[in-house]
Amino acid sequence: MRRALVLPFRGTLQGTILCPRDKSLSHRAAFIGALSEGETHISGFSFCRDCLATLSCIRALGVEVHTFPEEGKVVIRSGGLFALREPEDVLNAENSGTTIRFMAGIASGIRGLTVLTGDESLRRRPMRRVIEPLRKAGVEIGGRGGDRFPPLFIRGKGSVLPFHHVLEVPSAQVKSALLFAALWGEGKSTIVEPLPSRNHTENMLRYVGVPLHEDHGVITIEPPGSISASSFDLPGDISSAAFLMALALCIPGSSLLIQDVGLNPTRAGFLRCLERMGGRYRVLGRRKTFGEERGDILVEHSELVATSVEPEEIPLLIDEIPILAVIAAKARGTTVISGAQELRVKESDRLFAIARGLQSLGVNVGEKEDGLIIRGPCAFRGGTVQSFGDHRIAMSFIIAGLLGEENVVVEDVDCVDVSYPSFFTDLGKLGIQSVTVEEAR
Ligand code: S3P
Repeated sequence: MRRALVLPFRGTLQGTILCPRDKSLSHRAAFIGALSEGETHISGFSFCRDCLATLSCIRALGVEVHTFPEEGKVVIRSGGLFALREPEDVLNAENSGTTIRFMAGIASGIRGLTVLTGDESLRRRPMRRVIEPLRKAGVEIGGRGGDRFPPLFIRGKGSVLPFHHVLEVPSAQVKSALLFAALWGEGKSTIVEPLPSRNHTENMLRYVGVPLHEDHGVITIEPPGSISASSFDLPGDISSAAFLMALALCIPGSSLLIQDVGLNPTRAGFLRCLERMGGRYRVLGRRKTFGEERGDILVEHSELVATSVEPEEIPLLIDEIPILAVIAAKARGTTVISGAQELRVKESDRLFAIARGLQSLGVNVGEKEDGLIIRGPCAFRGGTVQSFGDHRIAMSFIIAGLLGEENVVVEDVDCVDVSYPSFFTDLGKLGIQSVTVEEAR
């Protein structure tokens, strides 16, 4: 297990960097490739650990996957929806909630038995939210601990009953699992979202020709019979860009251009929050591909003020809350984050992990059942922070260390590869030499 020794960064951040590719879109492009007939070409694929788990799952369904990591490309060859075959062994989604939940939806349509498991963290994450609606759609499905956790088993029949489901938690993972299952529907299905969550799956399914309609949170999907293969050129990941933006916003004299960031409004709540905090950034070269906005972000050092993050915003910046909390600790005033209880069931209990980490750096932070109260601005002191094996916690505190006054050790940073394998290289490209990764003693 490796740890990072982080020394305060005394320079300024200048220049241009290409945003690492989007994990969320890469999962979807790979799964949609597996569900399509013919050859799907994906460029801008994220070769992070989570997406590699997705590729290994679709291979086990008899799908041909060719990877070209140097070029960021993947080619997927499949016979489509009805050619997917029962896997010969248990499938391992490793650390990826997106992989296991999407696979639960897809396995619902495949004739035969699929068993899904994951690593220690994933085996503690809630699965009833996908099991119950799929069972209502006539799928034989269950999970460990009275349907609460993985491993999951799914015995698909080659079709699912049409369903109408109102999501209890605004989860794009659950919504997408149900959309995928509905592709094998015996009729039209509907999903109702209480609050908008990322709509990448809807955009991509529509792009490949699936009859899908959204109206005021009600999504209607008709089974397409078959899907013809398409190509996707994926943008960069705003959730990874957020770490670099935090550095540029907080380091005096900085001005950084992050190229080709995905800007889908249902993913970009972080940007709207930064605007309220006085964060200075501009989007250049805005454009749209397969229904997804993208552009370059020019971000500059800013005098930041506190804000309130309301429950309805949470799904739109769900993965950015750890780094937002670090930024809030540098902003003047009290930031209150509410309605974020979902963070307790991510790769770690993120509210606990953030509160603990910030406390060890001397920040005045309070943990609520559903959020955080952070009083800034604070000069971070030195200390040791636990990542709890969670990639976004590890990267958030490496950034905090760079913004601090004294040396910080972040334990267990191997997890960074889960979403952002080039994180340390990118810091180096920006001239940051003060992070050393070493074997823990
Ligand atoms: C994701 C959705 C979010 C997010 C996760 C990726 C996705 O989960 O936290 O990292 O790709 O659909 P929920 O929508 O379940 O909160």
